[in-house]
Amino acid sequence: MKLRPLTRKDSAACHRVFLHAVHEGAKAHYSSEQRAAWAPKTARPHEDWPEMITHGFAIGATRWGRIRGFFAMGTDGFIDLAYVHPSEMGKGTAGKLYDACENEARRLGLSHMETEASHLARRFFEKRGWSVTAQQTVIRNAVAIENFRMEKQLSSS
Ligand SMILES: CC(C)(COP(=O)(O)OP(=O)(O)OC[C@H]1O[C@@H](n2cnc3c(N)ncnc32)[C@H](O)[C@@H]1OP(=O)(O)O)[C@@H](O)C(=O)NCCC(=O)NCCS
Repeated sequence: MKLRPLTRKDSAACHRVFLHAVHEGAKAHYSSEQRAAWAPKTARPHEDWPEMITHGFAIGATRWGRIRGFFAMGTDGFIDLAYVHPSEMGKGTAGKLYDACENEARRLGLSHMETEASHLARRFFEKRGWSVTAQQTVIRNAVAIENFRMEKQLSSS
């Protein structure tokens, strides 16, 4: 497994990972209606994807040259995207992607990081010293989805 920065050309591959991560990976925690609203099964990524996966610090994990997971973090330390393919879960790949983001946040001199985490991601972030600041319900495509606002103070660790 290798890490490399994402480019706009990775848009379709990241979108496929995103669909698998939500529809298979997050199945135990979100209903099919919620997963469809979170990740509509379109053949092609929305036109925003090239920008979404390349703004700020965006990093992908590859095996045999294929994207198996990716994280994207704004220059303010907000992690917007955190997805690994279901076959990659529980292997430490997301952990390596996360470590790259935290290292970058520290390099930028940020005092804290934030995200809005799914049930799965909440556990993942808590193991890395993050805490929940709010439990919330967001509306995606007219469907209510529960997630957690989380943060980590970097100065304290
Ligand atoms: C959230 C998500 C990215 C986290 O991925 P993950 O599979 O839990 O994370 P990892 O692949 O790093 O696996 C971590 C676990 O694998 C295990 N593991 C197995 N082999 C390992 C290795 N060689 N190195 C490190 N950990 C290893 C460890 O038990 C580790 O547990 P830890 O968290 O205590 O370190 C992933 O579950 C996902 O894509 N979910 C679906 C979509 C989603 O909810 N995304 C978040 C949107 S906010």
